[in-house]
Amino acid sequence: MKALVLAGGRGTRLRPITHTSAKQLVPVANKPVLFYGLESIRAAGITQVGIVVSDPRELLEPDRRTGELTTVLVNSQAEIRAAVGDGSAFGLEVTYIQQEAPLGLAHAVKISEDFMAGEPFVMYLGDNLIRDGIRMFVREFESEKPNAQILLAHVKTPQHFGVAELNGDRVVRLEEKPQHPKSDLALVGVYLFDRTVFDAVRAIQPSRRGELEITDAIQKLIDTGKRVRSHVITGWWKDTGKV
Ligand code: DAU
Repeated sequence: MKALVLAGGRGTRLRPITHTSAKQLVPVANKPVLFYGLESIRAAGITQVGIVVSDPRELLEPDRRTGELTTVLVNSQAEIRAAVGDGSAFGLEVTYIQQEAPLGLAHAVKISEDFMAGEPFVMYLGDNLIRDGIRMFVREFESEKPNAQILLAHVKTPQHFGVAELNGDRVVRLEEKPQHPKSDLALVGVYLFDRTVFDAVRAIQPSRRGELEITDAIQKLIDTGKRVRSHVITGWWKDTGKV
């Protein structure tokens, strides 16, 4: 079992905190949010981790004092590499996987196929924080052996998340940030997959916002008769990108 940690993306929602910094490095109780994820992956017995990072890019931004538009180089990748290094401080072996632009969570999965080399993996969104860790979900996935397992949580604002519709404990439909959510069950940013996910990410098209959505890839797994389990968590969870 390997892990894929997503630490690319834009971080625009957390401005000005992340004006020049990666949102995954924003501290929570004096520790970058990303470190909690890496520690929970290690605690689940996983050591080989691929971290998806975005290429440096130039952005046109208004100067904070004068308001004049200036070009800023955003290189969150350098900051993440400097903070995590080769992962040995966490007991991990880290491989960096370059994403040329934030083209979606399923795009990040697509470019990680070689790294996974056929092994099942847990995908962990680098800005998510789950107090109770992920060990239990990894064990469940290993013993039940579904094709995919998702974590869900009841939320007050489902329209800001991927939303699941269940029939009993069977996942029937997933929708990314729907205007009219069919339930209050949000997708938590931790997913478990076997190798069948790579066929699914190849079969989907970019969404209206131009991204390859992982919700669409999981829907594809459901539609092609693959086993997708869900687990509703009751413990404390935050998508820090939205706080
Ligand atoms: O936090 C849970 C939510 O995460 C789910 O409910 C949604 O279904 C899922 O799509 C995702 O939504 P967000 O809008 O919060 O995703 P965000 O763009 O913030 O990206 C999540 C993490 O993945 C973040 O650490 C940045 C990274 N990322 C994102 C994209 C789009 C990448 O590394 N590459 C990418 O292409």
